[in-house]
Amino acid sequence: MDFVPVNEPLLDGREKEYLMRCIETGWISSEGPYVREFESQFARRVARTHGVAVCNGSAALEVAVAALGIKEGDEVILPAFTIISCAAAVVRAGALPVLVDADPMTWNMDVSQIERKISHRTKAMMMVHIYGLPVDVDPVLALAEKHDLRVIEDAAEAHGQTYEGKPCGSFGDISVFSFYPNKLVTTGEGGMLLTDRDDLADLCRSYRDLCFQPSRRFFHERLGWNMRMSNLQAAVGLAQLERLPDFVERKRRMGRRYSERLALLSSLQLPQARTSHAENLYWVYGVVLGEEAPLDAAEAMRRLGERGIGTRPFFWPMHEQPVFLKHGLFLEESYPVAERLARRGFYVPSGLALTESQMDKVVQAIHEVIR
Ligand SMILES: Cc1ncc(COP(=O)(O)O)c(C=O)c1O
Repeated sequence: MDFVPVNEPLLDGREKEYLMRCIETGWISSEGPYVREFESQFARRVARTHGVAVCNGSAALEVAVAALGIKEGDEVILPAFTIISCAAAVVRAGALPVLVDADPMTWNMDVSQIERKISHRTKAMMMVHIYGLPVDVDPVLALAEKHDLRVIEDAAEAHGQTYEGKPCGSFGDISVFSFYPNKLVTTGEGGMLLTDRDDLADLCRSYRDLCFQPSRRFFHERLGWNMRMSNLQAAVGLAQLERLPDFVERKRRMGRRYSERLALLSSLQLPQARTSHAENLYWVYGVVLGEEAPLDAAEAMRRLGERGIGTRPFFWPMHEQPVFLKHGLFLEESYPVAERLARRGFYVPSGLALTESQMDKVVQAIHEVIR
């Protein structure tokens, strides 16, 4: 039985050529020229002044939190329905994550619920674009202005996506991306911070590089990390970036094809095709089982697995993470939409290398399992 993996990247551009150049020239570390080239080309693509490449998207969030000076006693508002990297960066900085439930249709943070979570301790908001549709950015930026809050935009899943025609990743004080292989631009492992502020860019570069000082290298005023990206990774990233418009088109074609073929399954909530701010990018093709469906996501995924279909569960909400409960965080808190999405939602194969015949196999298996 041919297994259909949940993700397979496409590496058929100039990746090999650029990698060979690294080997031939001996430039393989973060000092190599592709790193700066990738930073500047990626920043230009997202209409930002500075790009700071790092070893992954989670590291980018850690650096963003440090660069914005978020510390013990501060509160940071972020979605309950997201990857743990967002809350982990806040907790590790000694600050308190304050959660907001998801919107049941877009699966993004419900921005209408943010303002009542703002306190005199609130320092920042993290807006995370989830699964293909952007957060409603304008109300978040308006709240930031009104309450003098910093904004971290997590665009890890939103390469090539826009909000009101402006690139995702161009909003907030700092934005971050991931280049994990399921992203529209991959470097194997990798991430990037973007900002228009010179001071924040300098801080991000410093934190990524152990806070070495130019004038006195091994003498440290602050604690940083080695979170650098290698020239080999940047070589792959540059080749990928050349293909981004095509990759965006592929994802959208894939999403539309799935939606057309699954439209008759009334017990399945499909991704919303668009909001008034953007067309869905379908970073992953997620589905949510309705109340009337006689099985939960875990059982649906198990049955699809038996039919050779790879799947992944949706995020498990932050307030139900044992590690945070053990820390005494989020006790007695409830975010019903995030809880339901976690139990009823999962995504199906949606990588860039997915073929139409693989997609047909996925659709047939979903019809068999869900009816
Ligand atoms: C929204 C979001 N933020 C951050 C990350 C972390 O990125 P990485 O896997 O590169 O650490 C991910 C990873 O998929 C993500 O989906």
